[in-house]
Amino acid sequence: MNTKTVERQTPAVMDKHLVPGSNMAQPTIVEGSGCIVTDIDGKRYLDLEAGPGVVSVGHCHPRVTAAIREQAGKMLQGPGRYFSPLTSGLAERISNLSDDRLCRVFFANSGAEANDGAIKISFKHATKTHRQGYGVLSLEHSFHGRLSLPLSLTGNASRKKGFGPYAAFPGIVHGPAPYFYRSGAKNELDFGKACALQIEDIIKTRAPGEIVTMILEPIICVGGVFVPPDNYLPEVQRICRKHNITIVMDEVFSGWGRTGKLMAHHHWDVEPDIVTFAKAIGGGVPLAGFMATEKLGMAFDEGDHFTTFGANNQIGMAAGHAVLDILAEEKLAENAQDLGERFLNGLRQLKEKHPAIGDVRGRGLMIGVELVKDRATKEPHPALTTHVQKTLRERGVLVSTTGVHGCVLRITPPLVLTADQVDEALRQIDGVLEDSRHV
Ligand SMILES: Cc1ncc(COP(=O)(O)O)c(C=O)c1O
Repeated sequence: MNTKTVERQTPAVMDKHLVPGSNMAQPTIVEGSGCIVTDIDGKRYLDLEAGPGVVSVGHCHPRVTAAIREQAGKMLQGPGRYFSPLTSGLAERISNLSDDRLCRVFFANSGAEANDGAIKISFKHATKTHRQGYGVLSLEHSFHGRLSLPLSLTGNASRKKGFGPYAAFPGIVHGPAPYFYRSGAKNELDFGKACALQIEDIIKTRAPGEIVTMILEPIICVGGVFVPPDNYLPEVQRICRKHNITIVMDEVFSGWGRTGKLMAHHHWDVEPDIVTFAKAIGGGVPLAGFMATEKLGMAFDEGDHFTTFGANNQIGMAAGHAVLDILAEEKLAENAQDLGERFLNGLRQLKEKHPAIGDVRGRGLMIGVELVKDRATKEPHPALTTHVQKTLRERGVLVSTTGVHGCVLRITPPLVLTADQVDEALRQIDGVLEDSRHV
């Protein structure tokens, strides 16, 4: 079977060989450029998913593909644990982004692996500093990946059903997410403070043994796009510092400019001990990792942690360098900030018109639109959400659905989006909601 016949396979044929949950949705997408992808029949779509959240620099950015081509002629994979200027150079550039505060970098292949490694190194640090336990705090509604430990950290029970101990790593406790819309609270700052303070209660009442690490997304994305109140993260940091808890910020989705700043936690005055990253840094090829302070990052001993591709993956490194160049030169965080505002304002206007829109929220180009049956009761409307997603797809716009209630439209386009594309997306969303009043 050659590449052409694979491309032309029908979904039914693919179904026989891929495990459920793999890529089987239609349309069959075969090409992409910037924010546009094209299916096997030549139909074009505006991609508001981007990988998800991967191709922030746009599909097949010419500088990423050129860097990959050039590197492919030199070396694909390092032979072992040998020094690589590309790998060390990328680690140095990533460290420099935090003025060398997060100066130790580990490279991995996926977001789940990055989070797994971050918790592992925080445990080794706990051992070396003679802590009395290995408890981890995570948040409800969070998503940290689907390997055993990250799945256990994830705050969405439906992802864990049927996996027994695989999804129940010991010592993990979940605190409340800063999900203001469904909190019943009236004031965001009061809610932010109360929500953070519950972390302290949990440390005192629920944690089996000492909590040594807390992992959290600065903006919970897959869980439904929750932008925390401005006092939430600083308050969480204050509590973690008081209890000597290592803070791991999961920037797998939110990192690399998506929310209008290089890292989403830069919106607030906080300094995590470890930041995990993945998705956008590879520009479309697998590349992930974590960056840590010197104190945390030096906790591993020789041989403690390694992955075959990770730091040896020279294609990923070449792509990562190109992505950092593009982010800076094309000012993509700024574009995300400006166009995110335009998108959010447009969606807020649509909310005036469509009672099914319960809430519009987001930062930069990480946007959630929560659909409800009734604004007063806030009853989730997953059927409408799926219908809107499907109809938008038929009309040439790709969005995801997300959240534990399945009622949030998630909009995370490439950051090279244009104002015209925002306006076109808004027109389409408006039209689809207008035509879906019967659902
Ligand atoms: C915040 C966050 N962490 C971790 C992951 C897992 O990343 P991966 O699918 O690369 O393992 C995701 C994936 O969406 C994510 O959004």
